[in-house]
Amino acid sequence: MAIVSSQQSPQPEGSKRSSKAKTAAVGGAQAKPKKSDALLQPEAKHEESAGKHDDTLRPQRFDEYIGQRELKEVLDIAIQATKSRQEALDHLLLYGPPGLGKTTISLILAAELGVNCKVTSAPALERPRDIVGLLVNLQPRDILFIDEIHRLSRMTEELLYPAMEDFRLDITIGKGQSARIRSLPLQPFTLVGATTRVGALTSPLRDRFGFVQRLRFYEADELGLIVLRTADILKAKITKAASEEVARRARGTPRIANRLLKRVRDYAEVKSTGEITQEIATEALELFNVDPCGLDWTDRRLLTVMIEHYNGGPVGVDTLAAATGEDSQTIEEVYEPYLMQIGYLNRTPRGRVATPAAWTHLGYQPPDEQMRLLS
Ligand code: ADE
Repeated sequence: MAIVSSQQSPQPEGSKRSSKAKTAAVGGAQAKPKKSDALLQPEAKHEESAGKHDDTLRPQRFDEYIGQRELKEVLDIAIQATKSRQEALDHLLLYGPPGLGKTTISLILAAELGVNCKVTSAPALERPRDIVGLLVNLQPRDILFIDEIHRLSRMTEELLYPAMEDFRLDITIGKGQSARIRSLPLQPFTLVGATTRVGALTSPLRDRFGFVQRLRFYEADELGLIVLRTADILKAKITKAASEEVARRARGTPRIANRLLKRVRDYAEVKSTGEITQEIATEALELFNVDPCGLDWTDRRLLTVMIEHYNGGPVGVDTLAAATGEDSQTIEEVYEPYLMQIGYLNRTPRGRVATPAAWTHLGYQPPDEQMRLLS
């Protein structure tokens, strides 16, 4: 079995250019985070998206993978069934907030099925020939992983329809009246699409996936186990209490947990003996401005603006974006999911509302009216 990313695999010309475009696109996709926030950004940073460091920490098989129990059960059945029929696995759409393991799951699926996995992202597939290059080079039952699949161009998406449905590429040759469509057969393959915005997918594309699965935030105990596993791989000494401290502040997200662990390890090496105790972890995380619930400067600013300027809401996301200088898409996709998960923010038809728990966490007394709005 070989796991091939589009950066490593021998590729046709078009897709080599794509892998460069991918790296650039991942870095530039969102509003630039403030320096103080970078540790808690769930998106991959440049070196993580390139895969070098992350790959040693990624679980390789499902038996090493912690969390997402229901998803693993669904995929385990599908893997066994398709393996015994010797077919390609049905196309799979994974959605959910960034950093929860969509790429990892795709790589594990390939390992479990004994096939290759080609990794790319929609912004790298700007021109139709980019996707054509990838598709024609797939081996039987290979996996093609497309990150940010909601950002595919219309032409690329339309090439995918017959490719997904009938393993066939319909290519238009020539222009104008002499244009002709030529069909190229493809090997049976599995498309794994990943998105943070399932609602932004067109329905013809969404309907072609046999599985549509949501990744959920991880529980603190699951993240604690992930931190211990990563510390073991990094040969960092850590107490169980310290792993729990890091886990509590990691916003339900393994990528953030691992990033915090690395920074705490640096702190322990420079300021202490190198062992990560709870005291050291707490000191380090306070220094990095990560509060006990995992909120960073931007989370607190969003909630504070809602409370101080709008009496806790309701306030529209665009107004909130203008008032805080954040990008509204970043607020919706990166900040709000976790704030909603921990019960600090609600989306209502009239706008966003900071919950009484958020008021209290930030040291404010929630007004009675706020209680009434939420009861
Ligand atoms: N590292 C990152 N995510 C992980 C997971 N879900 N299980 C084990 N290790 C991980």
